[in-house]
Amino acid sequence: MAHYFENDETLKHDIQKSVAIIHNKQFIFYTDRGVFSKKGLDFGTRTLLETIDCNQIHGKVLDFGCGYGPIGIYIAHESDAEVHMIDINRRSLELARKNVNTNHVNVQIYESNLYENVDDVFDYIISNPPIRVGKTILYQILEEAKKHLKPHGQLWIVIHKDQGAKTTMEFLSQFYSVELKNKNKGFYIICGTNN
Ligand SMILES: C[S@@+](CC[C@H](N)C(=O)[O-])C[C@H]1O[C@@H](n2cnc3c(N)ncnc32)[C@H](O)[C@@H]1O
Repeated sequence: MAHYFENDETLKHDIQKSVAIIHNKQFIFYTDRGVFSKKGLDFGTRTLLETIDCNQIHGKVLDFGCGYGPIGIYIAHESDAEVHMIDINRRSLELARKNVNTNHVNVQIYESNLYENVDDVFDYIISNPPIRVGKTILYQILEEAKKHLKPHGQLWIVIHKDQGAKTTMEFLSQFYSVELKNKNKGFYIICGTNN
């Protein structure tokens, strides 16, 4: 079976409409077979979005591994930030574009394997990062985020304790000042500040 991060053009579509209420605001997210969390907003992503105070978010934000778009769309809706959304998976990007239009937000969306098409530096990089790609690539994503963060910029991620949240915090502390911002049902919301 293909992974959600692979581009499998032969996979049949099964587009579903889901509705998510986040902090009393309603969002519509179309999902499809072959993308992460096809059944609608992932609980880890929800916990991440409910932890971030959008009143504090300004400047430029990168949603790394946007999938069908919930993080970037929510941030663009709730803050005045300029939001960029990237993913390696073209089906996810197509859906993210559809969801951006459906939720009437203004963002930049582009394909990128890791940071290869990312030229900017950001105030925030926010991600529910891919775990199934393996630890080497996951750690590469987290370490290389530093090159795309401004001084004092922040990397926010969600990761479950069973997926190595504690060792990931230790890894991050080599490059960032790390804070555990929230914990819910095993999901850790971790913030690394680029000092
Ligand atoms: C756990 S999913 C999160 C999706 C979405 N942000 C959400 O919260 O529902 C991780 C995403 O990272 C993407 N991804 C995996 N490897 C990648 C890579 N090398 N470069 C960019 N994106 C990647 C996957 O395609 C997937 O959409």
